[in-house]
Amino acid sequence: MQFFNLHSRRNSKIDSSSVKIGVFDSGVGGFTVVKELLSILPDVPIVYFGDTARTPYGPKSPEILRRYALEDAKFLIEKGANIIVIACHSAASCATQELRDKLSLPVFEVVTPSVEKACSLSKKGMIGIMGTRATVSSNIYPVLIPTKRPGAIVFQQPCPLLVPLVEEGWLKARETRMIVKKYLRPLKDKQIDTLVLGCTHYPLLKNVIQEKAGKRIKIVDPSREVAQKVASFLKESVITNNLNIEKTRTSCIREFFLSDLTPHTFEIVTRFLGRKVELKKA
Ligand code: DGL
Repeated sequence: MQFFNLHSRRNSKIDSSSVKIGVFDSGVGGFTVVKELLSILPDVPIVYFGDTARTPYGPKSPEILRRYALEDAKFLIEKGANIIVIACHSAASCATQELRDKLSLPVFEVVTPSVEKACSLSKKGMIGIMGTRATVSSNIYPVLIPTKRPGAIVFQQPCPLLVPLVEEGWLKARETRMIVKKYLRPLKDKQIDTLVLGCTHYPLLKNVIQEKAGKRIKIVDPSREVAQKVASFLKESVITNNLNIEKTRTSCIREFFLSDLTPHTFEIVTRFLGRKVELKKA
């Protein structure tokens, strides 16, 4: 099994005078990352690709995820992206190294910032992960967390029912609460003190998850963490690469592409972003 280097993206540089962040996900989950990016970097152009025609990625094999992730990233590069953000844990866990090896631009992803945040937040080093089957089977978290925090113990829980519940908008339903409670039970039994929301859909269930986990457990929201990483990278690049944020402002655009588009998709995206945006079929 091959895992990626926590810091390898720093080897890549953007040498263009403007920046466009390309964000991709298996579908709509990555909009939680877009929302954070828009609030931290309101002036930077973003192009999004959601692979709604081939979603979900969660139950798929690493080989397929590597192929899909590369295709998704290439689509964004064709649309002018010069930074890639993998806003999908399933793809990030299996395909980050592949993308870093094959693409000569900075590749950010949701796993590393979550690992770093969980390690710094956790008092006892007892860390729980909720994720899709692909993320949990990749074992990315149990491998990376102890490299950052020796002695930490990681407990994982696949939560395949949560993505459809979020997409149906059952964010506070009794059934959703019951399922969240059931998924959290084994993690709580292990006395975790920190919990990573290891799927870009889960931030929409953050309140219910916090309620069922209890106040004692600290929650890591990867969408916020990855957006902050991108922001610090850009700040650094303004100095080291002469990146011209002023210039990007004049051409600031946001484009949201999806590989399949239905009226229901509009509803879900509006729920994720908290406002309506124009969606284009890729
Ligand atoms: N957003 C995806 C992730 O973070 C979950 C949805 C899917 O299974 O495609 O893994």
